[in-house]
Amino acid sequence: MVPKPPLSNRAQSLVDASPLPTYIAEHLERSTDSVPDDPNPYIGLAIAQNLLMWDILEPQINRDRDVDPASVAYGETAGSLEIRKMIASFGSKHIWGRTVDPDDVVLFAGAGAILEMLFFALADPGEGVLVPTPSYAFYWTDLETRDELTIVPVHTSSSDDFRLTPELLEAASSRSDVPIAALLLTNPVNPTGRMMPRDDVAACVEWARSRGIHVVVNGIYALSTHGDGMYESLASIVPIGDDIHEVWAFSKDFAMSGLRAGVLTSTNKDVLAAVAGIGYWSIVSGDTQHLLANMLADDVWVERYLTEMRARLSISYETTTAALKTAGIPYVEADAGLFLLADFRRFMDEPTWAEEDRIWRLILNEADVNLTPGSACQIGEPGFMRICFATEPPEVVASAINRIGLLLAS
Ligand SMILES: Cc1ncc(COP(=O)(O)O)c(C=O)c1O
Repeated sequence: MVPKPPLSNRAQSLVDASPLPTYIAEHLERSTDSVPDDPNPYIGLAIAQNLLMWDILEPQINRDRDVDPASVAYGETAGSLEIRKMIASFGSKHIWGRTVDPDDVVLFAGAGAILEMLFFALADPGEGVLVPTPSYAFYWTDLETRDELTIVPVHTSSSDDFRLTPELLEAASSRSDVPIAALLLTNPVNPTGRMMPRDDVAACVEWARSRGIHVVVNGIYALSTHGDGMYESLASIVPIGDDIHEVWAFSKDFAMSGLRAGVLTSTNKDVLAAVAGIGYWSIVSGDTQHLLANMLADDVWVERYLTEMRARLSISYETTTAALKTAGIPYVEADAGLFLLADFRRFMDEPTWAEEDRIWRLILNEADVNLTPGSACQIGEPGFMRICFATEPPEVVASAINRIGLLLAS
């Protein structure tokens, strides 16, 4: 037997403890094991993606498959000028609320890749980043695995409507035993599906500025609003400066999570240069860049897509909340994103993480429905679970909730 040379310590730690959360491992396994014509198939409502838009995307994406020589040659690391111009013009109008220069835009393989590279540029190993909770589960992977930063959670509370305040930021930062380099805001918030009130955004950014730290605003769900409210750009709330870095992606608002295209905009040229410096390993393929540029160039289609997307999300949200009411499961009202937080506390025997886990597994094993447990979202109190309502047509989501309701009532 040839001896197996050891891996690096950092690699071995990934082998010893997979960074894949249990709910995703279960989803992958159950989706693969699905039996054709099963009358009660597995329903995965744990992954935040919009699978409701393909009929509108498909003709547009397949329309101009005019792969040109430039698409198959080496190009600019941070995205071709063609795509950066299109993103700058689209983002200025729909997301950022200010005129963004194409030179202040970089494109890499998804928001996750952008976040990892951005935080590589903003903080050194051992430094801390304030992350409000409940939170997107993968920030821990993005920031702690290779960047070796420490996330300092800032727990918001259901009793205060999960609002983030400067007082909470101050308390978390003064309790922290690592120096704080940045604040990472997600707006609209994953997993609550709520847009942060303007005043809260202003107060939190002001607090960060008073501490001289970077502010990253991840607006990956900016256009996925439903109901009457619309996303309010950061520039309409606070003056944009070199301390602010905004992240977005095609993954959610354009329902293309598999295409891998994420965007960073910042006026801070040093940050952009640093990110571009390590971006070589996360370049978006030339073909994909060309496809996205063609898509954004069609203003009429973009407007129709966004209107239809919001209309469909509204129907899904309304259907989901109606089903939750019928099932007697409380929820936190939402106005954006592809999900909401359902409140299972009344079904728990005691307010513990073990009990939340028991309910999550019961729903998974008995109802064959997968939700995102609150613990994975690093929420500060047990009993909440995220329901991703755009991964399946509304009637399927409703039938999943119906199954859960019957199970919990028995
Ligand atoms: C808040 C947030 N940021 C980043 C990501 C990752 O996005 P991408 O697929 O573009 O890497 C997600 C995906 O769920 C998310 O919810």
